[in-house]
Amino acid sequence: MAHTRQNQSNLSKAQKRRFVDAVLALKRSGRYDEFVRMHIDFYRGDGDGGLRVAHMAPSFFPWHRKFLLEFERALQRVDPGVSVPYWDWTVDRTPAVSLWGDDFLGGNGRRSDRQVTTGPFAHRHGHWDITEAVTDGDFLMRDFGRPQNPVELPSRDELSEAMSEPQYDAEPWNSTSASGFRNGLEGWPSRRGDRTWFNHNRVHRWVSGHMLGAGSVNDPVFWLHHAFVDLCWSRWRKLHPESDPYLPVQPPPLGNAQHGRVLTVEDRMPPWDTPVRDMLEHRSLYRYA
Ligand code: CU
Ligand code: CU
Repeated sequence: MAHTRQNQSNLSKAQKRRFVDAVLALKRSGRYDEFVRMHIDFYRGDGDGGLRVAHMAPSFFPWHRKFLLEFERALQRVDPGVSVPYWDWTVDRTPAVSLWGDDFLGGNGRRSDRQVTTGPFAHRHGHWDITEAVTDGDFLMRDFGRPQNPVELPSRDELSEAMSEPQYDAEPWNSTSASGFRNGLEGWPSRRGDRTWFNHNRVHRWVSGHMLGAGSVNDPVFWLHHAFVDLCWSRWRKLHPESDPYLPVQPPPLGNAQHGRVLTVEDRMPPWDTPVRDMLEHRSLYRYA
């Protein structure tokens, strides 16, 4: 039966505790760090050779949908009543919101070393050692808004701009795609020819610390961020019922720079061997409240 993913701001104290407890149980068992490792292993960009499946590619949405689903199933093996909540960062935009409370994800990193010192994922409480990372240090780091080089969370208008794109994705199917919903939401800066990061990427930069780059899964807010990204994909499909739900339909031809580097709707996504097509619809699996 389909379970429901809720807006994190509506969770009761008990629901927050059950989510946190299930995450901590996965951390203790080593399972959590397998997800961190998988995300690091699949962090391949335009500049790297070979297939891009998770980022800078059309399969950004279906790959993360499957990734979240696997994580949620792991949580539910610990506690069947838990699901991944979502963080609407167009609404809950400040360090003061309940998301960052001591009873949920904890707050900002301290100034000296960006170490998170509050909440269940603070290293000093002994439950959250960073072991799979691309940076040194075994404590979780955050640096909200990056005061040295300030960045704001995306606004409702910025999200709407991406949501209004009628086409799912556009050639060359990478971080330079200048139109299309996928890069509008994934948010690589070259999209508009300036250095502004958009939507999904900007959220990673606003939280900063471990949320930057390949090791972002080390911060549990990763899941709440990507649940909202997933919800946005679902809303985009409702807004554009006439559009192809996924592009490309045909693989880029031999001789095209993207040949063999992006997945079509019929291709299977590693590491699960799940067809992209199977991830286009989520309502039989879970719903959003
Ligand atoms: Cu990712
Ligand atoms: Cu992300």
